[in-house]
Amino acid sequence: MGSLESSFHLRRILVFVSFLLLLHPSRSQRGTPPDASAPAPSALDCNGVLLTYDFQRGQRLRPFVQDPNEQAWAFTATAAILNSGTADLDAWELLIGFRHREILVSASPAVLTDGSPFPYSTSNDSATSFSGYPNPDLKYPIEVAGDLSQISVQISIGGTFFGSPSPAAPLPSSLSLADPAFSCPAPAVPSNTSTSIATCCLPNPDFKPNTTTNSSDGSDSDSFLPRHSGDLTISYDVIQAFPSSYLALVTIDNHSPRGRLDDWRLSWEWMRDEFIYSMKGAYPLLVDVSDCLYGPQGEYYQDLDFSNVLNCETKPTILDLPPTSFNDTALGRIPSCCRNGTILPASMDPSQSSSAFQVQVYKMPPDLNRTDLYPPHNWKISGSTLNPDYACGQPIRVSPALFPDPSGLESNTSAIASWQVVCNISTPKAAKPKCCVSFSTYYNDSAVPCKTCACGCLANGGGRTCNATAPALLLPPEALLVPFDNRTATALAWAEIKHFNVPRPMPCGDNCGVSINWHINTDYSRGWSARMTLFNWEEVNFADWFVAVEMGKAYDGYEDTYSFNGTKMGNHTIFMQGLPGLNYLVAEMDGANPETDPRVPGKQQSVISFTKRTTPGINVAGGDGFPSKVFFNGEECSLPDIIPTSQGFRSGGAVGVFSLVLLLVASTLLLLRQ
Ligand SMILES: *[C@@H]1O[C@H](CO)[C@@H](O)[C@H](O)[C@H]1NC(C)=O
Ligand SMILES: *[C@@H]1O[C@H](CO)[C@@H](O)[C@H](O)[C@H]1NC(C)=O
Ligand SMILES: *[C@@H]1O[C@H](CO)[C@@H](O)[C@H](O)[C@H]1NC(C)=O
Ligand SMILES: *[C@@H]1O[C@H](CO)[C@@H](O)[C@H](O)[C@H]1NC(C)=O
Ligand SMILES: *[C@@H]1O[C@H](CO)[C@@H](O)[C@H](O)[C@H]1NC(C)=O
Ligand SMILES: *[C@@H]1O[C@H](CO)[C@@H](O)[C@H](O)[C@H]1NC(C)=O
Ligand SMILES: *[C@@H]1O[C@H](CO)[C@@H](O)[C@H](O)[C@H]1NC(C)=O
Ligand SMILES: *[C@@H]1O[C@H](CO)[C@@H](O)[C@H](O)[C@H]1NC(C)=O
Ligand SMILES: *[C@@H]1O[C@H](CO)[C@@H](O)[C@H](O)[C@H]1NC(C)=O
Ligand SMILES: *[C@@H]1O[C@H](CO)[C@@H](O)[C@H](O)[C@H]1NC(C)=O
Ligand SMILES: *[C@@H]1O[C@H](CO)[C@@H](O)[C@H](O)[C@H]1NC(C)=O
Ligand SMILES: *[C@@H]1O[C@H](CO)[C@@H](O)[C@H](O)[C@H]1NC(C)=O
Repeated sequence: MGSLESSFHLRRILVFVSFLLLLHPSRSQRGTPPDASAPAPSALDCNGVLLTYDFQRGQRLRPFVQDPNEQAWAFTATAAILNSGTADLDAWELLIGFRHREILVSASPAVLTDGSPFPYSTSNDSATSFSGYPNPDLKYPIEVAGDLSQISVQISIGGTFFGSPSPAAPLPSSLSLADPAFSCPAPAVPSNTSTSIATCCLPNPDFKPNTTTNSSDGSDSDSFLPRHSGDLTISYDVIQAFPSSYLALVTIDNHSPRGRLDDWRLSWEWMRDEFIYSMKGAYPLLVDVSDCLYGPQGEYYQDLDFSNVLNCETKPTILDLPPTSFNDTALGRIPSCCRNGTILPASMDPSQSSSAFQVQVYKMPPDLNRTDLYPPHNWKISGSTLNPDYACGQPIRVSPALFPDPSGLESNTSAIASWQVVCNISTPKAAKPKCCVSFSTYYNDSAVPCKTCACGCLANGGGRTCNATAPALLLPPEALLVPFDNRTATALAWAEIKHFNVPRPMPCGDNCGVSINWHINTDYSRGWSARMTLFNWEEVNFADWFVAVEMGKAYDGYEDTYSFNGTKMGNHTIFMQGLPGLNYLVAEMDGANPETDPRVPGKQQSVISFTKRTTPGINVAGGDGFPSKVFFNGEECSLPDIIPTSQGFRSGGAVGVFSLVLLLVASTLLLLRQ
């Protein structure tokens, strides 16, 4: 009797436990479609896309600390998307505005849209973006008879947050879809004890899609997402497919007038155990097959000679080939390949604004079917230190790309499947500029050098003591020609003559690899001119450099650049590059007599002339003659806070107006007293 009763109890417990397990979709189910059991119940009556966020559990973590705001807690939560509308929701991106310094350790079935790995700190995001993986698309109820597994997705999120949750659950501040075609009202928080928020996204009636290509480009019954625009786009086109491998063409296109890459490095993450058998037009940083030999790939491809395999890393890094490989039949012969990793803006040279290479990929079970194609995820691209930083989204399936027939026939060849990755220039909050600007004028004999620590300073001053926050010492213009370390004597002598204060310790240097001097050269009634000088303090040459200068009022008066090729680019920006033969900014060199002469920077210089006919009332010395933004090779440079004036120095902008007013008031007072 007793044993029967206890086994009955045991069974009840087991049923209860498995019920609990059902409610918490286990993380080991990665890669399978989400459990279709009931999406989170919500009070919202939604005929659009229902987004919910359910906080499930918080557990206090050691170390226990006194300050409740610094206490770490582990949590799990479920974010769900339920498409209750009348159209597919393709390539969704879910934005969650975490605000308790959450550190995410897992999210499945999903990936972070920007490709960041876990653990991921959300503290600097205004909203963290998730994309679907492996299934990025949701169908709508009418199409699939309400099959929850096809119209909804539930993402289990695990992580750590900081603060004191009790009694309120730490809920995010916002929940929305990234797609501008939807408007998602701010989620209502029913009470301060609730553990979930929800919002219903409806199609935005004001949204006008600007799809550049109509679907006439080869797509048939399948509806594909439009190609998007971005600073840099990468297309991943499968051009040949076999049961266990495929050949993909990867094309990187630069669309931004100030985007630029030197020595690009591209990396991605294989999500399904694929490996790279061969490549043309580029090569992996590491030729390494050990991961395959000891991994499932070696077990599956028993007969494959792995000594011919190129790379088995999960996250390979790919580099461009040198131009000499272009005609190599084994490595090159891909149009737009082999340019030593240089990608220029199209405004400079359209033929050098894209890069391409081919990669042959081997797949693993269960994807051994010609039609089972999955692109790699988590793309990242970077250039040299003086290039902008890029943030890339996840690949999105687009209509198959068309390639002109190689033999010159009038027909086009269609790719088997195409994906697009969109990357945009990003400015990390903590990032330091990599170049800086100094100002000088004919009417003031002191130059305003680059800002102290414009490009960063070592925490300990690099062994020497200097003040990282004191403003830079004004200099005689010729001191700008020598390295910072050799300016000290001149700067001190100048301060003595001019009765400037000298802080002790002295201000630190700018530490910039490239600095640009903007000198007001002349200013007369009909026009004015500036002289721009580029200094290269680095050990490397810059080939094909460019500078973009944003001028305010003065832009309309731009006339000519004499020793550079300057063009007006719109948006108040003048784009300048070296003329043919003068497009090298050489590295810093030793002086003529290294014993006594300081090292000499590489220099390029040109006079730029402006007319005042089209810009009446322009006040060159008052600030209109100075650029508001300067970019070198796409990277924004640090500008000084003050400009030289004929009376002295003043900070740019509002303070300038204020001191003008003060001057007026003072002179009025003086007049009244007389
Ligand atoms: C909800 O918040 C209010 C004000 O912040 C507070 O007075 C109240 O006690 C809270 N309710 C609960 C149940 O914590
Ligand atoms: C796209 O194609 C459809 C049907 O072929 C046509 O009705 C529509 O006007 C086209 N849109 C544009 C922007 O060309
Ligand atoms: C649509 O056009 C506007 C202005 O022309 C542009 O700012 C926006 O980025 C475009 N959107 C897409 C998705 O291309
Ligand atoms: C490649 O071959 C073509 C034609 O044979 C030649 O014009 C071109 O200069 C070669 N390019 C390089 C980089 O060797
Ligand atoms: C290619 O780039 C490397 C370094 O990135 C440089 O040393 C080399 O001179 C470049 N080659 C050419 C042909 O530009
Ligand atoms: C100057 O640059 C423009 C745009 O990049 C180009 O079309 C033009 O040929 C260049 N002129 C010279 C003299 O190099
Ligand atoms: C490959 O996929 C197609 C369509 O998904 C299917 O009809 C076919 O049976 C599959 N072939 C194999 C060998 O699994
Ligand atoms: C081939 O594709 C190009 C670019 O997509 C297009 O301009 C051209 O009209 C196409 N040619 C044919 C025959 O479809
Ligand atoms: C967040 O920004 C701060 C400075 O604004 C920086 O110190 C920190 O490293 C950043 N954190 C992450 C994870 O990027
Ligand atoms: C550095 O300069 C700033 C501003 O001039 C000053 O407030 C600070 O005390 C100086 N620091 C040191 C260590 O001298
Ligand atoms: C001008 O600047 C605006 C905003 O900064 C930008 O949206 C637009 O694309 C720019 N236009 C050009 C031609 O660069
Ligand atoms: C310039 O400064 C560097 C670093 O302090 C020093 O090694 C070098 O001797 C100086 N050169 C001259 C000519 O003073």
